[in-house]
Amino acid sequence: MKVSRRIETLGQGVFARNDLRKCAYKKNTIDSTKHNLIDLSLGSTDLLPPPLVIEEISKSLGDPASSSYCLHDATRPFREAVSSWAQERFSVTVDPDKEVLLLTGSQEGTAHLPLAVLDPGERGLILDPSYPSHLGGLLLADAQINRLPLRLENNWKPDFALLKTSELEQLRIMILGFPHNPTAAVGDQSWLEQAMDIGLRNNCVVAHDNPYVDLALEGEAPALLRCQGWRSCGIEFFSFSKAWCMGGLRIAFAIGAEPLIAALKDLKGVVDFNNSLALQRGAILALTEEAHWPRQILEIYRDRRDRTVKAFDGIGWKLPLPSMAIYLWLPIPSWALDRGLQDESMAAELLDKTGVALTPGSGFGQGGSGWLRLALVRPVSELEEAVERIGKWWCFEN
Ligand SMILES: Cc1ncc(COP(=O)(O)O)c(C=O)c1O
Repeated sequence: MKVSRRIETLGQGVFARNDLRKCAYKKNTIDSTKHNLIDLSLGSTDLLPPPLVIEEISKSLGDPASSSYCLHDATRPFREAVSSWAQERFSVTVDPDKEVLLLTGSQEGTAHLPLAVLDPGERGLILDPSYPSHLGGLLLADAQINRLPLRLENNWKPDFALLKTSELEQLRIMILGFPHNPTAAVGDQSWLEQAMDIGLRNNCVVAHDNPYVDLALEGEAPALLRCQGWRSCGIEFFSFSKAWCMGGLRIAFAIGAEPLIAALKDLKGVVDFNNSLALQRGAILALTEEAHWPRQILEIYRDRRDRTVKAFDGIGWKLPLPSMAIYLWLPIPSWALDRGLQDESMAAELLDKTGVALTPGSGFGQGGSGWLRLALVRPVSELEEAVERIGKWWCFEN
């Protein structure tokens, strides 16, 4: 059966291959001497959402309104809570009716946005490496794609000077995201100011994917809402998945320029209805009564980061200290490169020999090749066990 050219372009990629390997590994562990799987390959946390939020969702599920389709008007309490949160968090006044949109995820929002704002063949820019929905959204919208390489030597700063003036003039959308998955760099407000300046001068949408805004371990996370001009061409995506540990519950939101919110809302009107009222009520509680939750979570990740980086140091694998929570970004050691291992083959070998699943960096773009991503989504004891197993493999191979 023929499928669309778009689907063929999306391809299966590194993530799907990694998933298949994990499934095969799990099957193998059933009656063999292989280690149990320690899965550190997904940014899906073991930490729990605030109990009050879960109680509110459970209670609200009994309300018949929660099982009805939810039209835009019914989402007003949620949008008002978002607007108050933005006022509190960034001292910015946001119109809940025109500048806020409920989303299923920051992934869903960033993937749909290019379809809402680009015509086929128009040009979009992503960071390389970057979260896969940024590329996927542009591919689905039949966009031409510019990839802006991020480099460790530059402290992962996007160097817009690499783009020619003619390229900047053709850009219709830029998709950025700091704190940055996968490099685990918090980034800097001035980088967004620069992007916004380019956006305003070239009539280009500046989209900022910011699900980690509350998870900076060092310094302050940048936010597009702090840039002058976001009301002209900016849109920022926030999520409950990371800081409130609600990834599986699927709820997020965008705040942005009125025409961009309107376009995304129209697009989503074709694709789905809004999330259930029960979920929205839980999310309202997260933004209000449980606004302190991210700070607690942050300290847990700080402890995990410090202990895991120290454990890696102990086996001789030196890592740059990440400035955001949840991820470590591991450079493949030169001896492994000399042995011909690349990120995907090294992830496969580590899984096979140690039972530890990591993500090959090239899953985030060419700029991620030569790196592995480790998500700090298990308790410290398991993280230390993972490093210990890797250490044994390291001694044997090196
Ligand atoms: C940069 C980035 N954007 C979006 C997402 C997905 O967020 P959500 O659960 O809100 O769809 C992730 C998840 O890892 C991410 O790292």
